[in-house]
Amino acid sequence: MSGLVTVDARIVGALREARRVVILTGAGVSAESGVPTFRDQQTGLWKTFDAAELATPSAFRRDPSLVWGWYEWRRATVLAARPNAAHRAIAAMSEFVPHCTLITQNVDDLHERAGSVGVLHLHGELSRPYCEACRRSYVLPEGIPDLPPGGARIEPPRCDACGAMIRPGVVWFGENLPDVAWRSACEAANRCDMFFCCGTSSVVQPAASLTDLAIAARATTVQINPNATGYDDSVTVAIQGLAGIVLPRIVAETWKSA
Ligand code: OAD
Repeated sequence: MSGLVTVDARIVGALREARRVVILTGAGVSAESGVPTFRDQQTGLWKTFDAAELATPSAFRRDPSLVWGWYEWRRATVLAARPNAAHRAIAAMSEFVPHCTLITQNVDDLHERAGSVGVLHLHGELSRPYCEACRRSYVLPEGIPDLPPGGARIEPPRCDACGAMIRPGVVWFGENLPDVAWRSACEAANRCDMFFCCGTSSVVQPAASLTDLAIAARATTVQINPNATGYDDSVTVAIQGLAGIVLPRIVAETWKSA
C-alpha cells in the first residue's frame, strides 16, 4: 500500500456522520514504533519465546525472576520507543468524532504518549506492576532498564506494605480482563456506529469478540492489517495496509477541510 492510496468512500462518509466510534488496537499498531508483535511470522514474540513459560500465572510462580526480567526487557523496549503516525492519527480522530472510545490490547503507553486519553487497556499495562498478594501498585524506578534482547533473570521487587512479590501489570493467559475496562469496551462496541480494528490478528478472546458485537450492532466495521485475518469477510471493509499509512490517510481524507 502506498501513500497515494485513496480511502474507500464508505469509510469517509460513515466517519463524517458517525456519533460513536470505537477503535480496537493490537500489537500491529505499535509495530512501526519498533515494538514487536506476538504472531508475525519473522518477528513475533511468540515465535521466539514460549508464552507458557512467560505469560501465565503458573510461569510466574515457577520462575519469577525469568518472567520479571522478560517483562522488564519489554518495558525497556517501550520506553525507548516513540508513538508513530498510527497512534497520532487515532488521537486526532477523537478530536473530530463526538464520542470516540479507544480500546487497546497493547500493554505499552504509546497511545497516551500520542495524546489519547481514557484508553481502555484490556490486557493491562507494563508501567503498572502491582503486588501479587495485596494488589497495591508499585512505583517503578526512573530510567530505562539496560537489558539484552529477551531480558535477563531479575528478582522481582517486594511490596513495601506486605513483602510479597511484585508482578508485571499485564493480564496473563488464564486470567480475567480488568472488569471495568472490559464492561466499558463491550458497552462502547454495542452502541457504536463505526468500529475500527487495527493491527490485531483477532485471535485472542474475549478481545476479538468486540468486533462481533460491533457487527451485530450494524456498525460500519473497518479492519486495517497488512495480513489476512478471520474477519476479512465479515467486516464492512478490510484494508490491507500498515496502520501508520492507512490511518493518517483516513483522517486526512475525512476531515481535509477541517
Ligand atoms: P498479534 O501479534 O497476534 O497480531 C498483530 C497483528 O498486527 C497481525 O495480524 C499483523 O498482521 C498486524 N500488523 C503487523 N504490523 C502491522 C502494521 N504496521 N499495521 C497494522 N497491522 C500490523 O497481536 P495482537 O492481536 O495484539 O496478549 O495479540 C493479542 C494478544 O495476544 C496480545 O495482547 C497479547 C498476545 O498474547 C497478552 O499478552 C495477554
